[in-house]
Amino acid sequence: MLQRLEDLRARALEELNKVSNARELEVWRVRYLGKKSDLTQLLRSLATLNLEERRQVGAQANEIKRALESSLEEKNRLLQEAILTYRREARELDVTLPGRPFPIGRLHPTTQILKEICHVFQNMGFEVIEGPDVEWDYYNFEALNIPQHHPARDMFATLWIDAASGEEARLLRTHTSPMQIRLMEKERPPIRVIVPGRVYRYEATDATHESMFYQVEGLAVDKGITLADLKGALLDFCRCVFGEDRKVRFRCDYFPFVEPGVEVAISCLACNGTGCRLCGYSGWIEILGAGMVHPDVLARVDINPKVYSGFAFGMGVERIPMLRYGIEDIRLFYSNDLRFLRQF
Ligand code: DAH
Repeated sequence: MLQRLEDLRARALEELNKVSNARELEVWRVRYLGKKSDLTQLLRSLATLNLEERRQVGAQANEIKRALESSLEEKNRLLQEAILTYRREARELDVTLPGRPFPIGRLHPTTQILKEICHVFQNMGFEVIEGPDVEWDYYNFEALNIPQHHPARDMFATLWIDAASGEEARLLRTHTSPMQIRLMEKERPPIRVIVPGRVYRYEATDATHESMFYQVEGLAVDKGITLADLKGALLDFCRCVFGEDRKVRFRCDYFPFVEPGVEVAISCLACNGTGCRLCGYSGWIEILGAGMVHPDVLARVDINPKVYSGFAFGMGVERIPMLRYGIEDIRLFYSNDLRFLRQF
């Protein structure tokens, strides 16, 4: 028995010497160390031997098994090395080549400008908060002085969400203004917040319209806040974002939830105010809507308009990088074209 084992070892090692590739090595492994190999069978049949024999043969067989296993490992290593040497010599593998670069991610241009806008207002003491994309009619319209059938609803082409009968209507918010109400329901003045977020419009898309885009809303409520505070804050903002020499224009406008309402424009970035295609030959580019929070809006959230006043503003976000970098189509922002996105 012991002799047979020694023969087996010699035969196995001799054959292993002749193995020259991974496939042959696997065949060898199955033959000498596999489940059906002589060695494995023999180890299994040890139980039939008497005690003395079992001890001797068992020890020998186990020793051979370990020896064959380590020879197998060694052979495997040699084969791998041979492959590498071969490749290197055949110049298939050029170890002097630089490694593969890791692709580095970057922030989406919208994220970048959102951060920038938030940063400017944070420096003025505003806090950043966010709100839900799916809104109730109440917050998006009613509480902002836009009751059912009010013509101002036409300003917003709304995406409605099916409501069960008797349930209040839900929608995808058409602006970030509803967060003014949500916040003032909970918090008492002094309030200074900005609200970045997605808004939705039921509109055909074209170079200047997307059905989803971003806005940043601002709200400041306290005792003694005046239109001068609104002008100061927004003038500062425009200069931070568009440059020190930018001229800023405030004109009357109408939004149901503010009184008075204003529209803010900056001198055209392309022509500096002399008039060009970008500004429609007016010299000015409108960038945001704003105003003094309407007393009825304050009263609705139990803030006494005789004691407190506030200003609010809302701006489209994508427009800013569009103006800054001369991007002519808003749809580029959300069509996932890396050739576009990688430029920022
Ligand atoms: N929510 C308005 C819109 O989407 C923009 C706006 C105008 C926001 C005046 C305001 C504001 O807070 O005071 O067109």
